[in-house]
Amino acid sequence: MINIAARRCTSLDGKWQIIIDPTGAGDWRQVWQEKKTEKKTDFIEYSFEGGPVLNVPGDFNTQMTELKYYEGTVWYKKSFNYKSVGNKRLFLHFGAVNYLASVYLNGNLIGKHEGGFTPFQFEITDKVNSGINTVIIRVNNQRLKDGIPGLGYDWFNYGGITREVNLIETNNTFISDYFIQLGKNSLKEVNGWIKMNGIDHSQNITIKIPELKVDYQTRLDGEGFTEIKFAADFRLWSPENPKLYKLVIQSETDTIKDEIGFRSIVAKGPNILLNGKPVFLKGINIHEENPLKAARAYSESDALILLKWAKELGCNMVRLAHYPHNENMIKSAEKMGIMVWDEIPVYQQIEFSAPGVREKMDLMMREMVSRDKNRCGVIIWSLSNETNSSPDRDNALINLTDKCRHLDSTRLITSVINDENYSNNVMDVWDILYRHCDIISFNEYLGWYVPWQGRSTDVKWKFISDNKTVVITEFGGEAVFGNNIGPIDEASSWREEYQEQIYKDQVAMFHKMPDLYGVFPWLLADYRSSGRMHPLYQRGWNRKGLLSDKGEKKKAWYILKSYYDSINNNY
Ligand code: GCU
Repeated sequence: MINIAARRCTSLDGKWQIIIDPTGAGDWRQVWQEKKTEKKTDFIEYSFEGGPVLNVPGDFNTQMTELKYYEGTVWYKKSFNYKSVGNKRLFLHFGAVNYLASVYLNGNLIGKHEGGFTPFQFEITDKVNSGINTVIIRVNNQRLKDGIPGLGYDWFNYGGITREVNLIETNNTFISDYFIQLGKNSLKEVNGWIKMNGIDHSQNITIKIPELKVDYQTRLDGEGFTEIKFAADFRLWSPENPKLYKLVIQSETDTIKDEIGFRSIVAKGPNILLNGKPVFLKGINIHEENPLKAARAYSESDALILLKWAKELGCNMVRLAHYPHNENMIKSAEKMGIMVWDEIPVYQQIEFSAPGVREKMDLMMREMVSRDKNRCGVIIWSLSNETNSSPDRDNALINLTDKCRHLDSTRLITSVINDENYSNNVMDVWDILYRHCDIISFNEYLGWYVPWQGRSTDVKWKFISDNKTVVITEFGGEAVFGNNIGPIDEASSWREEYQEQIYKDQVAMFHKMPDLYGVFPWLLADYRSSGRMHPLYQRGWNRKGLLSDKGEKKKAWYILKSYYDSINNNY
């Protein structure tokens, strides 16, 4: 179900007892059984009682020193008291668990989930006791060759129950899902659907938007589903005017409220049109990490720290790299008038031909789209980053692109590449995927990983077609804030001046790219990545931030800010 915040929730957040299980002994000891001694000769070599506790939500790596770099199994336990009032259903819902979750209720396995950044739930109506219940979760964040992401990725592998856990009580038939957004290319007409979960399918449905005097009536079909189509004079959502409308969906057996904005986003030729007007995406990449805590971000206050920095930089958009961030991030961005790039972690080396991998990609895409499809701030679905072309990869991603478009054709769909061909100062950007995507998006690290082959203003660009919208999704370089050791024109000095020069050269190049419709520097703030091992300058941090991990502005920040301030979008 979607829109958890508007439902009858009992939070299970807070302290959870844990067992750290580096060898996996808990699997054969069956710790979810919580065996007790029965006779004098009995002894049990595990227990949650008297053991450590962790905060949920929160990654486990930053809560205990011995878990700092831990990648393995941690067992979590929480008990709750439930008084059934009859005629209700009960669900156990997780905002996200990284990476594998096996969930037990009162000693019985109720379900499993794979994927660290999307929500999942299990119905426990006929499994819950009236009285005390115990949830035990086997959480494992070990890297998997056939995982999404795979074995290697340039961010910290925070494990644990990283987002909220809720018990959700519903009526027997309830409004489980809905899609209420403007139809493609429309500025007035809502084109969507409503789905109810339960047995009572002969119900009337009403959608009310009091502010617009919308009182739309329809009726479920026999399957608990109904299409919806109505028009209204919406004040359209835009960065300048992030208008959201209070909306109520009512049926005989359920009512749910939401706050939804309405806007149109279209790629037309080289342009991106927001509400029919060209818009330049003044973007920034962000990881779901609060650098001030050096921990996985999850709360509204974490989100506001990151988004306020992005706003101060002059951004009108954020690329949430490389996985769906928490809902606080998406909703806060929408309220602040910041457009959102939503991406699934099909990142670099993926085993596209391995059994089950395509199903995992499909599930993550569906979970992302399902959760965020009513957030008008989200304008782009991104299905991969820096994967190399091969028949299996091409096939898998083309297929996924079509499926995504089938789910939601009102947003732009893309995949990010980085295997451009650069010779004689000519950049040739080509990938078969761009025949299927709405925009061309690519990463280029000219001036850092890739030395310039001439003046940046002389770079010639070749794209698959002149008529497709182009955005640059990553560029930049590293610097340590305040470091003034070593020559400023040498990359290995990690000096701010070197990073600043990269930004000056990139911005000069952008001015020479008339059909460029958006840029996203890599990235807002320094962030943790264990593969960054320089003992003086990195110490487990990627230093490409425009801000240090303490939020200090590097010289390059000012180059980008004045560039963004020079771009006027008349929304
Ligand atoms: C890549 C990649 C990022 C990575 C960045 C870097 O392009 O997409 O995830 O962090 O480059 O090397 O810093």
